[in-house]
Amino acid sequence: MSVAVQNLKGAAPLPYTPEIARATRDLYAKVAHVIPEIEWPVFAPYVDAINKLKKQRNAVILGHNYMTPEIFNCVSDFTGDSLQLAREAARTDAQVIVQAGVHFMAETSKILSPSKTVLIPDVKAGCSLAASITGADVRLLRQKYPGLPVVTYVNTSADVKAESDVCCTSSNAVAVVEEIAREFGVDTVIMVPDKYLAQNVAKLTKIKVITYDGACEVHERFTPQDIRNFRAANPGVVVLTHPECPPDVVAEADFSGSTSAMIGYVGNHNPKKVVLVTECSMSDNVAVEFPKVEFVRPCNLCPHMKRITLPKILHSLQTMTTEVFVDPAIATRAKAAVDRMLAVKMPVQKAA
Ligand code: 13P
Ligand code: SF4
Repeated sequence: MSVAVQNLKGAAPLPYTPEIARATRDLYAKVAHVIPEIEWPVFAPYVDAINKLKKQRNAVILGHNYMTPEIFNCVSDFTGDSLQLAREAARTDAQVIVQAGVHFMAETSKILSPSKTVLIPDVKAGCSLAASITGADVRLLRQKYPGLPVVTYVNTSADVKAESDVCCTSSNAVAVVEEIAREFGVDTVIMVPDKYLAQNVAKLTKIKVITYDGACEVHERFTPQDIRNFRAANPGVVVLTHPECPPDVVAEADFSGSTSAMIGYVGNHNPKKVVLVTECSMSDNVAVEFPKVEFVRPCNLCPHMKRITLPKILHSLQTMTTEVFVDPAIATRAKAAVDRMLAVKMPVQKAA
């Protein structure tokens, strides 16, 4: 039984009628590679109801790459990594944004689109990185290292963003660090809260990086031995890691990048066999796009991302809950840090 079906335990099933089977046939064809036929009657009525209701509500669903495949492929209007979803939240014309992701992502959407209604289908969808640091911690770091800019990963609360000079995501962290150091005329920056992302960034730039003691509970569990085991069991496999993994894990990989950079790598290189060293659902979603590539599936689930399910998305649209609010005084300061990040130009990159 798939993770997505296990997640539905406790939700009242909706009837799977011939009309719904017809209406969702093309969507199922898209995901048949990763969703067993026997599971589709469970998902399809929710998919159909969500897609009808979101039109009535003038709502868009922003789906992170870690959503399970029926959410990612069948109800999301936009999908991507944290940076792509933030950009989409800033430019959408829809009045309602449903964040199929975790709470800090919904807060970022609200900060960028304060006049919109931003909904999170499960308010408990948190993040170990966001929980690791407060605004007060950032103020203490500033006292300890006066004059140094603070670069804050988007995986943080609005309060922490508000205390920061600029935000970054795993897609743009190196470019952001170099740009803020140039603007401040310094050779050292403070980077919070992910120590591993900060250490991985420090290896790719001449700027010195002061780190903080946060980590992603999904990526910190991978070890260099895991990578060696993948290679031993799957000769020729290409290993891609997320930069939230410890540096000794990244050192064993063929490539490291954000969730979207990994998708880009698979598209550009078309490997026969690949392992995405990141959250489980990524492989299913990338497999839909690249059905000929064989995916070796590492299985570290993000319990926060997995709180988002089809019944909760439907409930969210039916009841317009739970709305995410950010104190306007905090939001203004947090927006300055997010806008500064969005203004950083990414270097033109050769295909990964
Ligand atoms: P990206 O999708 O930006 O790489 O982030 C991964 C992640 O862990 C989000 O919580
Ligand atoms: Fe946070 Fe890690 Fe889950 Fe992303 S995968 S939401 S960084 S705990």
